[in-house]
Amino acid sequence: MNANELRSKYIEFFKSKNHVEISGQSLIPENDPSVLFTMAGMHPLVPYLLGEKHPSGTRLTDYQKCIRTGDIEEVGDPSHLTCFEMLGNWSLGDYFKKESIAYSYEFLTSPQWLALDPKKISVTVFAGDENAPRDEEAAQIWKDNGMPEDKIAYLPASDNWWAAGPTGPCGPDTEIFYWVGEGLPPVGSNKGTDSGNWMEIWNNVFMQYNRVDEKTLLPLEKKNVDTGMGLERTNCILQGKTSVYLTEVFQPIIKTIEVLSGYTYGTDEEKDKSVRIIADHTRSSVFILGDQRGVTPDRVGAGYVLRRLIRRAVRHGMKLGIEKDFMAEIAATVIENFKGPYPELEANREKVYKELTAEEAKFRLTLKKGEAEFQKLLPNLMKNPKKIISGKVAYNLYETYGYPLELTQELGAENGFTVDVEGFKEAERKHQEASKTVDAGAAKGGLAEQSEVTTKYHTATHLLQQALVNVLGDQVAQKGSNINNERMRFDFTFERPMTKEEIQKVEDIVNEKIKEDLPVTMEVMPLDKAKAEGARALFTNKYGEDVKVYTIGRDAKSDWFSKEVCGGPHVQHTAQIGDFKIQKEQSSSAGVRRIRAVISGGLPLDK
Ligand code: ALA
Repeated sequence: MNANELRSKYIEFFKSKNHVEISGQSLIPENDPSVLFTMAGMHPLVPYLLGEKHPSGTRLTDYQKCIRTGDIEEVGDPSHLTCFEMLGNWSLGDYFKKESIAYSYEFLTSPQWLALDPKKISVTVFAGDENAPRDEEAAQIWKDNGMPEDKIAYLPASDNWWAAGPTGPCGPDTEIFYWVGEGLPPVGSNKGTDSGNWMEIWNNVFMQYNRVDEKTLLPLEKKNVDTGMGLERTNCILQGKTSVYLTEVFQPIIKTIEVLSGYTYGTDEEKDKSVRIIADHTRSSVFILGDQRGVTPDRVGAGYVLRRLIRRAVRHGMKLGIEKDFMAEIAATVIENFKGPYPELEANREKVYKELTAEEAKFRLTLKKGEAEFQKLLPNLMKNPKKIISGKVAYNLYETYGYPLELTQELGAENGFTVDVEGFKEAERKHQEASKTVDAGAAKGGLAEQSEVTTKYHTATHLLQQALVNVLGDQVAQKGSNINNERMRFDFTFERPMTKEEIQKVEDIVNEKIKEDLPVTMEVMPLDKAKAEGARALFTNKYGEDVKVYTIGRDAKSDWFSKEVCGGPHVQHTAQIGDFKIQKEQSSSAGVRRIRAVISGGLPLDK
């Protein structure tokens, strides 16, 4: 089996259990300022896990591209990835623990499906704490399915409680592990007794609660199941390989790196690590740049994470002795391999190449500047008899010029210096603590809290897009949008700066539509019908799939201003938005303009 077959089999299995396949969504959450990237299959489903009705029903399945960069510096070992695919199935107030566990076990062990050896499977369940009791129910269901008692480990919330963010839907989970040690697992072995040889492949979360704040955990009216299986890992164990990098998911990428560098993977541990970093980071960068709501390298937010991924890859390319710009070449291999399940990569091919190459060039310039700065510092450093470069100086070179620690060490060594690495780490820690505090502030309210203000901004985005098309013409296409409680940003394709008059005209149209107090209505229909009715749709849903269509206008069939395929939520009528003001119109990247706008006043939403 390969990853493509595993992906199809998973979806096919859950379809056979009456699940509807839905489309995975963009990597960039549209109206959720609390996370930079979609980190799990359930992220786009949060409103439905909290009780909103899903257009495709109560049993859903999909595959979702995810980015997790929390441990970016750890990537390089044989298993960590910053970009991965999650296979998921959901019950929205439909079945619960019994069916969920039975489905998972059947898919994994049935000869008709994955045919994994039950002897090599063990599980964990929630041990219980002051928030919720020990999950005896899940344990009993496992036993009823034939799982021996000693293969069930009871672990605390740190292992067996899942929440997408500081607030929102959450609950105990049961995790499924596969034995990756030699031969068969010894009797009595489970995740609790031997954590190293058991690899997690699937997590079934029983979402029974909504965390409202630190102290309050409310039971959900409808209980949900949210599961996630790691595609790359499961594919790896199915092939009996010891590392995801040895599977067909990464081998073509690694081959390209071998050709570019002249190095053969598997001959030197330090160089292998560089190859893995380049492979992983390039794949992530291509998925982020090639996303339907793609971002570009930036000094803040998701764009900053992207910048770090690209620069770290380039740095390791240099270590392997690749002298020229190389990421676009690797990107071609990535796109070739993943454009089937992710056609947006093909659609954005040119943009991906262009942005990667531009960022590489910028980084090389940065390195030159950092080196010049180092030379400037040198006479002063020479006065230090111990010949130590302090952590603060090294960190400053890194923070201000993007000049990496290893390069400072290299340059230092050429002049007889050592670098105080501990001091560097200390300075880095301090900086991270400071920025974490800022992040926590930005994320206040948490994932699930779709505040009134962001809802209003969301509807304003629809009005703005239609107004732009009316004034500038059909070449305007949405390239991205980002909303928080203070402002909205909207990126769209357009070749030149807008004139003052055009900006004014767009603003006037949006305000006029707000004053008209048009109703906002929603209807569920298949995607092809939505398109036939003239609805705008991002390149994100499958043909024939049921989608929500939001219409702004007096009559959804005959007299409307805007019609878009969209997950919502939206205001009920446009006067709730308030005054709309465009603050800025500027370039975002070549051929893409960015508008920053604010709203104020406006009526409260109906409850
Ligand atoms: N949402 C769960 C996870 O990401 C399934 O592990």
